[in-house]
Amino acid sequence: MTPIALFASGRGSNFTAVYDAIKNGTLKAEIVAVVSDCEDAPVLEKARSFGLKTVFVPVERDRPVIERRRMHEEKILTSLQLLRPHFIVLAGYMRVLSSFFIDAYASGKGYSRIVNIHPSLLPSFPGVKSYAQAHRYGVKWTGVTVHFVENAIDSGPICAQEGFSIADCKTVAEVESRGLAVEHRLYPETLKWILPENFKLVDRSGGRFCVCPN
Ligand code: GRF
Repeated sequence: MTPIALFASGRGSNFTAVYDAIKNGTLKAEIVAVVSDCEDAPVLEKARSFGLKTVFVPVERDRPVIERRRMHEEKILTSLQLLRPHFIVLAGYMRVLSSFFIDAYASGKGYSRIVNIHPSLLPSFPGVKSYAQAHRYGVKWTGVTVHFVENAIDSGPICAQEGFSIADCKTVAEVESRGLAVEHRLYPETLKWILPENFKLVDRSGGRFCVCPN
């Protein structure tokens, strides 16, 4: 049973997928807290309704970016001190984490114990609104990536990816609905071997690592 803290800023459909996998016994984890930077994020309401501990940490908007990020992350770390999650699971958390926070969850084995799900086949379409980026670009395939978090946006070692065709999608909404179905299956499936650290990091030269399940 790995203790995890799940970070999310919005609707929380991936949170629900992870929660369901834990509830039905396919994922051996315990959500010790759901953390959000948005007080009115639907994910907090959902988590409360499941009886989970929620932590809302506001951002001090009147400070310079670096200072504001540091203060925010310090507060989160403090609130997690007693809960002691072994992994941080990002699921639609819309803030960039600094090296200060990432280092606090360094495994000492070349990866952080922070994992994220991104709605594209990285390194394509990093950043926000990736399903819309893919649709706008006109790619025939896009996908979903689960990766470890590093100190650069959407860039850490890739744990799992799954592609799907969007050639027939007329709207972004169609791309998103196809993508979310993949996300909700892929994230819990990948966490099954990520959380017990049942993988090896393979060096692909130049410090580029590939994560392979054992
Ligand atoms: C998902 O598409 C996820 O891949 C991305 O943000 C979205 C969050 O959706 N990082 P939800 O809040 O889990 O429904």
